[in-house]
Amino acid sequence: MQFLVFVLPLFLFLGFVKAQWDDDPGWPEDPDDDPPNWPTQRPTPTRGPSRPTPTSEPDPGQTDEPEPPLPTGVDTFANATVYQPDDSTHHLTSPRTENLPNNTILAVWNDPESTSDTLSIYRSTNNGFSWYAHGTAKSTVAGRKLLEPHLLHVDGIWSGETNLALLTVNAVDEKSTNIELYASWDNGTIFEFVHLIAEGGPAIATTGSTAVGEPFMVLHDNRLTVYYSDQRDGQHAQKIVHQSTADMWENWGTTIDVVASDALVDRNGMTSIAKLPNNQYMIVFESTENGNSSSDNHPVYFKLTNTPENVGTEHKRQITTTTGTRLQGAPYATWSPVGGANGTIVLSDSTSNSIYINQALGEGLWKEIQTTAGRAYAREVRSVPNDKSKLRIAGGSENDARSSDILITIIDLEKALAAK
Ligand SMILES: *[C@@H]1O[C@H](CO)[C@@H](O)[C@H](O)[C@H]1NC(C)=O
Ligand SMILES: *[C@@H]1O[C@H](CO)[C@@H](O)[C@H](O)[C@H]1NC(C)=O
Ligand SMILES: *[C@@H]1O[C@H](CO)[C@@H](O)[C@H](O)[C@H]1NC(C)=O
Ligand SMILES: *[C@@H]1O[C@H](CO)[C@@H](O)[C@H](O)[C@H]1NC(C)=O
Ligand SMILES: *[C@@H]1O[C@H](CO)[C@@H](O)[C@H](O)[C@H]1NC(C)=O
Repeated sequence: MQFLVFVLPLFLFLGFVKAQWDDDPGWPEDPDDDPPNWPTQRPTPTRGPSRPTPTSEPDPGQTDEPEPPLPTGVDTFANATVYQPDDSTHHLTSPRTENLPNNTILAVWNDPESTSDTLSIYRSTNNGFSWYAHGTAKSTVAGRKLLEPHLLHVDGIWSGETNLALLTVNAVDEKSTNIELYASWDNGTIFEFVHLIAEGGPAIATTGSTAVGEPFMVLHDNRLTVYYSDQRDGQHAQKIVHQSTADMWENWGTTIDVVASDALVDRNGMTSIAKLPNNQYMIVFESTENGNSSSDNHPVYFKLTNTPENVGTEHKRQITTTTGTRLQGAPYATWSPVGGANGTIVLSDSTSNSIYINQALGEGLWKEIQTTAGRAYAREVRSVPNDKSKLRIAGGSENDARSSDILITIIDLEKALAAK
């Protein structure tokens, strides 16, 4: 299967660091937060010739009658293009989106074939339906490209700064991989380099190499924690670690293990994290065991913890579905408040168009729900903050044999759950 070649050796680190770090964007939803005070303007899709047709039905509130009081919902649609690669040699994966105030969404993605030292940030102001080039981050070291990006918007004050958008990347050149942090004070127009968090060897995915990659940020308890995949420890082919700080400019903590297998050859990576309503954090990742990088040996696991800065001793749990499907490859998790007292954890893997849901805070079996979004490597799922009945799915290429636009789909999660 192409996916075999695709998942680890290629997408992760080989040659060009095809990896994605996982994200999300994905930064965790904060179920404690009040719904943001979004201006609730209805999207006015500007439909160009290449724009997709929204698949939503008109909202019942959207008739000829005078508009009822807001809030209004976000329309559903399938496969809105965020970005189209220049040509089919680019295999864009791992899109990561983040909502900013004023109903703005930013998007970034991994373009391993990029030849530029500048990462583009795209923006939508109509709930993801249309997208425009908006901002940039540029490497401070000539010849490095910024891969595996993850965005995080900070509400309120952190590290003495307000209205801050953070970007972490793996800055890659022929000789090194570098987990870097960038910050924007202008809603994502310019991201400036602020800190080199970790430095590793060249992007090679074999036991004994020393690359780092796939960063993912979480802000918890006034600390920023950056999780990443780390091959530098001679006892582990690849483990997941984190480093934390209360101040983005300095005082970063040492490297702490998050997932490290007993077996030297095991490779853990592609981390994504969701905050649950019981204040636990779900850390999802893939584990390639026994040095067997066959396409069906990148199973998805998770850990649950109350303290995302201290995860190492939590046990690794398997995801068991009602149908027996084993989730494989580069997972992404989000939490949605719909679906009962516990809300719903939604998980995407890299092998099908389905999402997997759990309504018992991670305990018990997971159910599969098919979606209108295509399968994609390291696909992102996010609960939509300004309409929590909806789920946003962002995907790119399926594998390194197929090129694809970066595509956004909004599904009605509440309806999908009701039909289950
Ligand atoms: C909010 O977004 C709207 C539409 O994109 C824009 O016209 C307006 O200037 C923005 N307001 C602020 C305070 O940024
Ligand atoms: C960023 O967006 C917020 C909310 O729309 C706005 O108040 C602020 O002025 C913007 N900042 C800049 C530098 O554009
Ligand atoms: C690799 O793992 C897959 C899935 O678990 C299994 O079917 C296959 O036999 C394994 N291959 C080897 C060489 O162990
Ligand atoms: C919520 O999750 C808890 C813990 O797993 C479980 O015992 C309970 O049955 C769940 N509640 C609902 C309504 O599913
Ligand atoms: C969206 O695009 C994917 C390919 O990426 C395709 O499989 C899927 O059918 C499309 N969905 C719709 C509703 O057109």
